[in-house]
Amino acid sequence: MRTEQPKMIYLKDYQAPDYLIDETHLTFELFEDHSLVHAQLVMRRNPERGAGLPPLVLDGQQLELLSVNLADQELTDADYQLSDSHLTVHPTSATFTLDTTVKIHPETNTALEGLYKSSGMFCTQCEAEGFRKITYYLDRPDVMSTFTTTVIAEQHSYPVLLSNGNPIASGPGEDGRHWATWEDPFKKPAYLFALVAGDLWCVEDTFTTMTERTVALRIYVEPENIDKCQHAMTSLKKSMRWDEETYGREYDLDIFMIVAVNDFNMGAMENKGLNIFNSSAVLARAETATDAAHQRVEAIVAHEYFHNWSGNRVTCRDWFQLSLKEGFTVFRDSGFSADMNSATVKRIQDVAYLRTHQFAEDAGPMAHAVRPDSFIEISNFYTLTVYEKGSEVVGMIHTLLGAEGFRKGSDLYFERHDGQAVTCDDFIKAMEDANGADLSQFKRWYSQAGTPRLAVSESYDAAAKTYSLTFRQSCPDTPDKVEKLPFVIPVELGLLDGKGAGIALRLVGEAAAGATSRVISVTEAEQTFTFVDIAEQPLPSLLRGFSAPVKLSFPYSRDQLMFLMQHDSDGFNRWDAGQQLSVQVLQELIGQHQAGQPLKLDQRLIDALRTVLSDERLDQAMVAEMLSLPGEAYLTEISDVADVDAIHAAREFARKQLADHLFEGLWLRYQANRELSKQTPYVAAAEHFARRALQNIALSYLMLSGKPEVLAATLDQFDTSENMTERLTALAVLVNSPFEAEKAKALAVFAENFKDNPLVMDQWFSVQAGSTLPGGLARVQALMEHPAFTLKNPNKVRALIGAFAGQNLINFHAADGSGYRFLADLVIELNAFNPQIASRQLAPLTRWRKYDSARQALMKAELERIRASGELSSDVFEVVSKSLA
Ligand code: TRP
Ligand code: ZN
Repeated sequence: MRTEQPKMIYLKDYQAPDYLIDETHLTFELFEDHSLVHAQLVMRRNPERGAGLPPLVLDGQQLELLSVNLADQELTDADYQLSDSHLTVHPTSATFTLDTTVKIHPETNTALEGLYKSSGMFCTQCEAEGFRKITYYLDRPDVMSTFTTTVIAEQHSYPVLLSNGNPIASGPGEDGRHWATWEDPFKKPAYLFALVAGDLWCVEDTFTTMTERTVALRIYVEPENIDKCQHAMTSLKKSMRWDEETYGREYDLDIFMIVAVNDFNMGAMENKGLNIFNSSAVLARAETATDAAHQRVEAIVAHEYFHNWSGNRVTCRDWFQLSLKEGFTVFRDSGFSADMNSATVKRIQDVAYLRTHQFAEDAGPMAHAVRPDSFIEISNFYTLTVYEKGSEVVGMIHTLLGAEGFRKGSDLYFERHDGQAVTCDDFIKAMEDANGADLSQFKRWYSQAGTPRLAVSESYDAAAKTYSLTFRQSCPDTPDKVEKLPFVIPVELGLLDGKGAGIALRLVGEAAAGATSRVISVTEAEQTFTFVDIAEQPLPSLLRGFSAPVKLSFPYSRDQLMFLMQHDSDGFNRWDAGQQLSVQVLQELIGQHQAGQPLKLDQRLIDALRTVLSDERLDQAMVAEMLSLPGEAYLTEISDVADVDAIHAAREFARKQLADHLFEGLWLRYQANRELSKQTPYVAAAEHFARRALQNIALSYLMLSGKPEVLAATLDQFDTSENMTERLTALAVLVNSPFEAEKAKALAVFAENFKDNPLVMDQWFSVQAGSTLPGGLARVQALMEHPAFTLKNPNKVRALIGAFAGQNLINFHAADGSGYRFLADLVIELNAFNPQIASRQLAPLTRWRKYDSARQALMKAELERIRASGELSSDVFEVVSKSLA
């Protein structure tokens, strides 16, 4: 907890470090009531910073300093200065060693940053600034050092002792203790340091690299989870091969380890050679993990593995450059997931997520650029903008340069900067140099926050056979008050003729027509593109594949959207046409609800979805995606003032109407797929995900009919299915149904079956937290008393409180403000022991400007109550103060 007012840090103030650390030698003595950390740092004056010898200011927090030696001389109190956050010493030569010993308390560390204990094991989380809670250090990513680490602990409770790099020695010690020494020869910043000590089992495998080197692969878990590692291991090997084939990147060390821990603030962490994962991002098998969980494990394993090059071998100069590694690595893991599964479905899911959540962030009080230029607490900047929008920005470079040009650029980037800590500008420069390209205007994507709007209008000249599209771009103001200059917006597009066929595209001034789909770059505030030889009025298909993270508008009629849904050659745009049609129809229903009129669903949406449902040639996962109406959170995001009740009523009405009108088609597809599920053993692969996705969305519609045969089918699926995908869907469908007795029984059976599996219990909590039936808050409060619930475990907080406040909008936004009060109370409680989790749970309250004035007042009052609640962590302080500014 801070003692001073947290202060803002600015990118413009960046200065290279005064001193460098060449070697770091650590010894950890782990005990039950404290731990000792001895650090020997081999240091020198940074030659870039001139000749003098300024004071050496080391970062350190919550450390008890026991001794400090500079150049082999023990220092006395008079020789150094100590504050809450720094240790200052005074070197007398340009090269020297610094030795410190500190005492720390991992056993009471509830913030889960630095060295802490989780389910009896010791583990670390150092990104972004956690290493300073382990020892005094230059805790900044541009200080890179080799590390040797010795871990000493009691043998019986901690038989496994791990750190980064290769194991070089180990042996028994005194009093039932033992030790192991690890050496990491690759220079790295402290945020990539890791240590683990515990009673763990491991699953082992090997990987043969492109140069025929053998790498040992190990996944460490608690003994009872040893049967849930195979999917992660398979994913790891696929990732390693994919990175060789797609980016030419080979793994470097002789061993790669993953450790699963139960208490973890985020998904996973890419520590060099020793990735530490939230157990939810490792463990997966058919009986206990859904299809979505299997896909998440595959994606996160890949993401952390890919960081070995995009993040570790080439790292960030400072934390403002976070998207350098995160945006690029998300782009890389998305490409991997697209290749392993259905590329179109992956794109649809990514875009739906970006539009719902990143667009909301970009329009709210915490809006920031992909490369922010100031922050108070860096942990608050592991955001959708840095990750997901950052990935979109890299994706646009890929679109502009083409796959080959992009690969040339990434090769040059990795070669030029291997072993360095660099900036987003360095990344762009490599892309430019490898391609002879000029990305100077494009770079505005890194410095300008906010989601650009792109309004498109058309004009057709039948006599001249020309067709013009005019693009007008603008970008809303954001709290940083940065002036918005035009972006470079790559728009992939095509023109459809009356039969739905693509027209070969030729712009004015071009010699000949080319392909039927192409990318044009909108670079000005207003710009017109004219196509020639257009024999009839065409229908444009715009922003194919979502080629830029913008809000595009074109005045499509509902009939035109239905035409695109059927005929567009771009699968993503077929889905998006359906979404736009649904949005128009839902907004009409919202208007009817607000006007107190009876709701009437446009028959065209029913017809369009009936066509999709009966098309046997379509990928079933696509059918499932097309049947999914835009979510309430997305409808909120696109509203000027979100009417919580009208949005919920309209969407539920539409779902019920669709369920009634499409009952036959849904029932046929449900039964066919359910039969296949019964006959087929569980396989975690795209076509199986697709079949189950359609089966399960069909069931969720069918249950809205309340028919006894659907209830019977749901109960049968719940009782007899052996995979979690089918079981959990059946449970969720029951939980949202009016069948109280069946619901209660299913919940009890499920909890009894899985009471020993915390990750499955998380699902059980989430399903109930998400139920939009009345009385949501009371249900959540009752569940907080359940023995399996604890606020100390971030997964539990996310499963219950996160799901309630983030997904159960109708209950969370109850007009009496009870949901807001509940969340504020929890944030105040969490702030005291886990600031990162507290700050993240706050996000729904920061969106107060979206709501009616009564709700705005209630939400603001809760933010003010948090602000006045006492000593705030810098994490919560920053979000609350920016939200109220
Ligand atoms: N670098 C991690 C990633 O791959 C993110 C991360 C893990 C993190 N743990 C964290 C960020 C704790 C901040 C705090 O995305
Ligand atoms: Zn990452």
